[in-house]
Amino acid sequence: MKLITDVAAMQAESKRARCAGHRLALVPTMGSLHDGHLQLVRRAREVADHVTVSIFVNPTQFAPGEDYDRYPRDLDGDMGRLAEAGGADVVYAPPPLAMYQDGSSGLAWVTVERLTEHLCGPYRAGHFNGVTTIVSKLFNACQPDAAVFGLKDAQQFFVLRRMVRDLDFGIEMVGVDTVREEDGLAMSSRNRYLSGAARDQAIALSRSVFGAREAILSGRVDADGVRALMREPFSKAPLAEVEYAEVVDGELLQPVGQFRAGQTVIAAVAARIDGARLIDNAIVEVPSWVG
Ligand code: PAJ
Repeated sequence: MKLITDVAAMQAESKRARCAGHRLALVPTMGSLHDGHLQLVRRAREVADHVTVSIFVNPTQFAPGEDYDRYPRDLDGDMGRLAEAGGADVVYAPPPLAMYQDGSSGLAWVTVERLTEHLCGPYRAGHFNGVTTIVSKLFNACQPDAAVFGLKDAQQFFVLRRMVRDLDFGIEMVGVDTVREEDGLAMSSRNRYLSGAARDQAIALSRSVFGAREAILSGRVDADGVRALMREPFSKAPLAEVEYAEVVDGELLQPVGQFRAGQTVIAAVAARIDGARLIDNAIVEVPSWVG
């Protein structure tokens, strides 16, 4: 695995690989790699024959007061985990000063409207502008043919897919299903903030979205009923504070009223448990026989 830490060297490597006839895939991450990330790397190897994993804890996507400073950073451990999982051709791990002139932000931004209005948007000021901007920068540095993202962050995936379409990036967007712990908890770098009762109660998130999926697939058409159902598992999780339990359409991510046959909807939940902010979702196709 080649470790590259500056933009020009990354661009040169991508150009070299493309001239050698390779198809390039990028897996953007913030490090602290777990099995969810490694699953994306495996998928990347299926869709391309030159795989870059980027590792960069991006300051511009953390709202003031969020966990940027304490976000886990462990490049050596990440390189080890990646190697165990079969490795990548390149690990692109630029320091903050290589990405932003003053190490913390630039003056140019990429924005996606509408899709960022609900779910995490209102709770994380500036977050999605940080994500779309850094991913644009990673695309410019790595020049991939395909980019692989987890559907665990469904809103992020839909927002980035819209960005790629609207701005003609010409990159294939590949979404990978959420990888979970045995009890259902979605894997996340932030799970390491949890211990004891908080870890046990975190299972309320997956129960919430699994319950929504089941209700929608069994023919419930009132979204408000599903929203109420999604809050039920939290009655057994007193340490959890729900930010939202929402059902949106799979196009512009706007709250839905009644489900329509064949429509794709996303049941998504966010909660704070013992200082950790966790999210989960289920992407569900409304059965063709409802209505
Ligand atoms: P990070 O949280 O490190 O996640 C990197 C990628 O791994 C994202 O595409 C995310 O959806 C995926 N992922 C995380 N947990 C997963 C799980 N349990 N199952 C499947 N995929 C999972 O998301 C980011 O970083 C950043 O916002 C980034 C896109 C890198 C931009 O800074």
